[in-house]
Amino acid sequence: MELSLDIKNKIEEMLEGYKLPILKRVSSELSENYLKESGKGISLVNSELDAKVYACIRMPATYKAINDSLIHTLEFYDGEIKTLIDAGAGLGASSIASSDLLPLTSITCLEKSDVMRKVGSEITDNLPIKWKEFDLVNQEIEEKADLVICSYVLNELEENRREFVVKSLFNATNKVLLIVEPGTPVGSSIIKEVRSLLLSLGAYIIAPCPHQEECLSEWCHFSSRTSRSKLHKLLKEGDAPFEDEKFSYIAVSKSPCNRCLNRVLRHPIINKSSVSLSLCNEKGICQVEVRKSDKEKYKTSRKLKVGDAFD
Ligand SMILES: C[S@@+](CC[C@H](N)C(=O)[O-])C[C@H]1O[C@@H](n2cnc3c(N)ncnc32)[C@H](O)[C@@H]1O
Repeated sequence: MELSLDIKNKIEEMLEGYKLPILKRVSSELSENYLKESGKGISLVNSELDAKVYACIRMPATYKAINDSLIHTLEFYDGEIKTLIDAGAGLGASSIASSDLLPLTSITCLEKSDVMRKVGSEITDNLPIKWKEFDLVNQEIEEKADLVICSYVLNELEENRREFVVKSLFNATNKVLLIVEPGTPVGSSIIKEVRSLLLSLGAYIIAPCPHQEECLSEWCHFSSRTSRSKLHKLLKEGDAPFEDEKFSYIAVSKSPCNRCLNRVLRHPIINKSSVSLSLCNEKGICQVEVRKSDKEKYKTSRKLKVGDAFD
């Protein structure tokens, strides 16, 4: 599922009236900021126009990564989820992605930046959201929700504050906590570190891991594809009709839960007589051949995508 056309149109309407060279300059400054200044705990989006351009160039991709992570989580979690805390909400991508999949009755968006809260509340004005000024690094979350999501935030924080923030997120979780990060080597190593911390706090992994033992992956990440609008192509200067977003994630439950037996790590290689799969499972990371003679399994294997569960 992609970010809805309604929201994409709303974002483009917000940018009407601005000259293209100005939007291109803001877009390249934002990309530069994210590349060079992440992890220092400083604000990377500083004006209303920055926030609106961020909405155009990043939100469709972060929405899709959160949506995919949540789909893989909900495949193995069937408890009732009614309330959400979106921590470091930005413009509300996690709130929108969750509302598209769950019957939420209340959402709290915790966000430090004034401009993100302002533009975010305009974009999400059809959702039951309370927007709150909040600093995850210096304040402990006091309210609780069935689902807590923190997407694309931890990599922006100073490393020595991450443990405090993750503990606070876990304490605020009644049922499920989902953390999503960019699928870069840095983002995936943050997820690996968070995984260990959450396990030490008594969490039960729902996805993507098929086990709770030590993680043997060097760079566990997945990818999601989003179509690009004309404005997105102009601002990011490229013609490709799609954008592939790499992401890493971890979803945990507060109570014992189901999880998959195998997670697909690479695109299956389809041969005439077999499908070759790269899987993560309880034994570690392994290659498995599914032979054509194993009819049902072979049929399923041919259709698998990276990130899918395979049982
Ligand atoms: C890259 S954006 C991600 C936004 C959104 N979660 C998403 O997935 O699209 C990171 C957001 O985290 C917010 N943030 C950074 N440090 C924060 C802090 N200490 N407390 C609360 N929010 C913070 C930023 O203002 C920004 O809106």
